Amino acid sequence: MMTIKDVNPNLIKAQYAVRGKIVDRAQELEAKGKRIIYCNIGNPQALKQKPVTFIRQVLSCLEYPDMMNMPEAKKIFPADVIARAKMIMEKNPTGTGAYTVSSGIAFIRKAIAEFIENRDGIPADMNKIVLTDGASKGVQAALTLILKNENDGVMIPIPQYPLYSAALALYGAKQIGYFLDESNSWQLNEKILEDSIKEAKGKGINPVAIAVINPGNPTGAVLSKDNMEMIIRFAKKYNIVLLADEVYQENVYLEGIKFVSFAKAMHDMNEKEVTLFSFHSVSKGFLGECGHRGGYFEVRNMSPEVYGQLIKLQSISLCSNVDGQIVTYLMVDPPKPGDESYELYKKEKDTILSELKYKSRVLGEGLNKINGMSCDVPHGAMYAFVKFELPHKKDVDVSKMTVDELYAYDAKRDFDYCLALLEETGICVVPGSGFGQMPGTMHFRTTILPPREDILNLVEKMKKFHEEYTKKIAV
Ligand SMILES: Cc1ncc(COP(=O)(O)O)c(C=O)c1O
Repeated sequence: MMTIKDVNPNLIKAQYAVRGKIVDRAQELEAKGKRIIYCNIGNPQALKQKPVTFIRQVLSCLEYPDMMNMPEAKKIFPADVIARAKMIMEKNPTGTGAYTVSSGIAFIRKAIAEFIENRDGIPADMNKIVLTDGASKGVQAALTLILKNENDGVMIPIPQYPLYSAALALYGAKQIGYFLDESNSWQLNEKILEDSIKEAKGKGINPVAIAVINPGNPTGAVLSKDNMEMIIRFAKKYNIVLLADEVYQENVYLEGIKFVSFAKAMHDMNEKEVTLFSFHSVSKGFLGECGHRGGYFEVRNMSPEVYGQLIKLQSISLCSNVDGQIVTYLMVDPPKPGDESYELYKKEKDTILSELKYKSRVLGEGLNKINGMSCDVPHGAMYAFVKFELPHKKDVDVSKMTVDELYAYDAKRDFDYCLALLEETGICVVPGSGFGQMPGTMHFRTTILPPREDILNLVEKMKKFHEEYTKKIAV
């Protein structure tokens, strides 16, 4: 029988906090009957968000095509749903149960290219688009393509969504952290980028890429175009690939700010050298179709030879799942005004997005009022990354700690805090140390996804818990 000694040590090293020990404990408590409010993961439909009807209707028809010829079908499905399903079947006659070409069904890639053209007003090439099982698989494909050996490193934000650190650990490559600037709404800071790449090079690490998450997870920040231009110039200066994680592009809440894609920013700068991967997904936005595992990436500025290797890599897993490809298609080509489904589709979309906007504000403002807690009211994405303070025990002198000791000390404290919060209130959040944070600070990440009533309740419960916990540990 295999023992732990026989396991790939890179896998043992990889950490994925959003599904870590705190969530295991939440599930144990739930099994014993405790009510848990899961704020640990951006999984909207697990938190009662209803699927968008149009998506599920088209999928139902495609999964059981005979149904479309039954007399009841016309009563159940709007005409444009049936027409759309038939059109998909014509263009993909082998159906949802057959493998597709490795990069994904051609007409879907074409629709994605048109979506990018309409979103950004720039040309896009369907032959530089690859459908993936969610953005996660796209990121892993990009990393597999670019990491050559254990000396190669990727710059990743701190705090970051742990897909990046976990995948780097898994592939045995180096993580080059760069801190996001909390004092400047979590934008990237050129000096911090410069310092971090120089420090990595000084240690003999070969930086090959920089990952940027916009809108940000866990920060909820939306990057300004100026900031993005600085990042593009930085990638060019050091000849590194830009990995743009844009899965939250529909989730922008603050009036007056807009999502700008890196493809658009690069196009406007006439940048033709920096290799760009941009990732998108059906899991976020207002669809929240996490379980359908759909997404795509688009690449720019890549030679045909390299692109050929990327397609070969995709072919090793044959193709991404076909339902996920279809949901991706429906995301980029939704019902239009005049279609029978349009009104309902628009109503569902607007309701979901306005609810998220409302909850981001209520949660952000509510948490900010708690003594000892602060956060930016999320500008986008689905999270608030909340800074909190706790007193030290009398015998602790943090001024005598090294940076590593301080980090480990705070990591233990934010973990203990989140665990106690769970045990006492049933609220499941993720400790900041799971995403990375500046030594000497503590955070937790909460989603804004629970239903309205739970959000209001959550702020109240957190306030009470924080006050009591602070008193309890100050001895
Ligand atoms: C920043 C970011 N990128 C990628 C993903 C993964 O998304 P998918 O479900 O498309 O794999 C997530 C999921 O939460 C995320 O937050």
